[in-house]
Amino acid sequence: MSKAYWGQELMPEALKGVMDYLFDVVGMNRVAATHDVNNPKSGRVMAKAGMKYEGTLRQAGRNIQGVIDEVCYSCIRADRE
Ligand SMILES: CC(C)(COP(=O)(O)OP(=O)(O)OC[C@H]1O[C@@H](n2cnc3c(N)ncnc32)[C@H](O)[C@@H]1OP(=O)(O)O)[C@@H](O)C(=O)NCCC(=O)NCCS
Repeated sequence: MSKAYWGQELMPEALKGVMDYLFDVVGMNRVAATHDVNNPKSGRVMAKAGMKYEGTLRQAGRNIQGVIDEVCYSCIRADRE
């Protein structure tokens, strides 16, 4: 996303829309996401959208930085009721 648009909570709003679709239209019970432990801003997006921190998976991912720890957030249907 263009830097001009950071900090306006656009990504949390977009993620909430995706989660509404997955729970209310598709009928899912659980939605989970992970981010590189070195990108905590992505975790803030997940938390603001209503996801809860589950844990950090050691050396579970790989990107251009190499092998990375992944932080996992999730939301289950019961969280929304
Ligand atoms: C991270 C990103 C996706 C968040 O989306 P957003 O629409 O800006 O979401 P928010 O406005 O809710 O901001 C989320 C967090 O990002 C950080 N943030 C937002 N704007 C920022 C800015 N201009 N400078 C520094 N940090 C900023 C803050 O920590 C914020 O959390 P807070 O509100 O608790 O302080 C977006 O800012 C972005 O694309 N950043 C650059 C790329 C990046 O870091 N991507 C993630 C790894 S791939």
